[in-house]
Amino acid sequence: MTPAALSGLDLLATAVIVVDNLDVLRHMNPAAENLLELSRSHVVGQGIAAVFADHELLEAALQYARRNNCSFSEHDLVLAVSGRPRMHLTCTVTPIERNNVFDLEGCLVEFRQIEQQLRIAREERVLDQSVANRELMRNLAHEIKNPLGGIRGAAQLLDRELENPDLHEYTQVIMKEADRLQALMSRLLSPHRMPRPDHVNIHEVLERVRSVLLAEYQKEISIQRDYDVSLPQIYGDIEQLIQATLNVARNAAQALTEAGIAPGEIILKTRAARQVTLARKRYRHAIEVCIIDNGPGIPPDIGERVFYPLVSGREGGSGLGLTIAQNFVSQHNGALTFESAPGRTCFTLLLPVADDTERGAHAALPPLQ
Ligand SMILES: Nc1ncnc2c1ncn2[C@@H]1O[C@H](COP(=O)(O)OP(=O)(O)O)[C@@H](O)[C@H]1O
Ligand SMILES: [Mg+2]
Repeated sequence: MTPAALSGLDLLATAVIVVDNLDVLRHMNPAAENLLELSRSHVVGQGIAAVFADHELLEAALQYARRNNCSFSEHDLVLAVSGRPRMHLTCTVTPIERNNVFDLEGCLVEFRQIEQQLRIAREERVLDQSVANRELMRNLAHEIKNPLGGIRGAAQLLDRELENPDLHEYTQVIMKEADRLQALMSRLLSPHRMPRPDHVNIHEVLERVRSVLLAEYQKEISIQRDYDVSLPQIYGDIEQLIQATLNVARNAAQALTEAGIAPGEIILKTRAARQVTLARKRYRHAIEVCIIDNGPGIPPDIGERVFYPLVSGREGGSGLGLTIAQNFVSQHNGALTFESAPGRTCFTLLLPVADDTERGAHAALPPLQ
């Protein structure tokens, strides 16, 4: 590798190794030396099978990334350096080509240690929060909807009785505002229909979202695709998945146009993920959908509360888009999370790919209400 590439990797805080196409370790940065407690001078030039005791999953990840020529994440990679306790790591494998930075063909492998307990606790929190959101929405909407009908009806009667035409303006305001609230409550209680699960190609979902947004924001934003086309189908309700993805992507488009970012860019990215724990259940395979924008980022004062109902950072925003998106995703036993900083916001949907034997459970997706 060129000295520039080496020094770049050596500065990273993330543990990175470089493996060539014969699975021989060609480089290891200091962060990886630390994490794996290995000395680069002892292991570079050796095959990964000789360095790691449990190497099957890592080999499989390398193979997958090479075969599909795109990056791949293994969410719970168990790896042991001969004679030491096993480590639970998240690893991302990215194929590299021979170019002026890398003088070999192979893969870059990044390792991150998972604080297993922390991760599970966070997932449980998200799950509880989404159940609480649903409950809050339902109660709030019912409480408001009933009296609202009465208010609107009374205003209508009053409107007919008014003799002074100047006063109609006021009854009209009451009726219009009641209608607006009524529509908002209906959205809170949506969907009225039961989910209709079927086989879904995630790229069909993303293409629909892409065409809707391109129609809405013709010249203001560009939408790039970065798909892993070898992904399997998932089992779910296509309309709900489109709505969830659209709510997330539309927020990105709104953030970009409102901040006047030029060129505003959204990337729709799909990847395979494995060994994922979602809704307290472990899945061997999952699909990762990332919606990335180069906008200003989630306002820091909103932060994690973006998923709460009625939390909005936009003038005129309902604050329901992400709540609904999260509900739909959790009905698919998935998870919706985000990372945001000025210049890059990434929302990630993780959706499990059910084994054949598990499909029965998914067929009975619970209704929202
Ligand atoms: N990609 C994004 N970039 C910047 N801010 C975002 C993004 N996505 C969501 N937000 C923030 O989260 C808020 C909540 O979003 P949402 O639940 O869809 O409600 P609404 O769009 O009606 O405000 C938005 O108002 C916005 O402030
Ligand atoms: Mg929105």
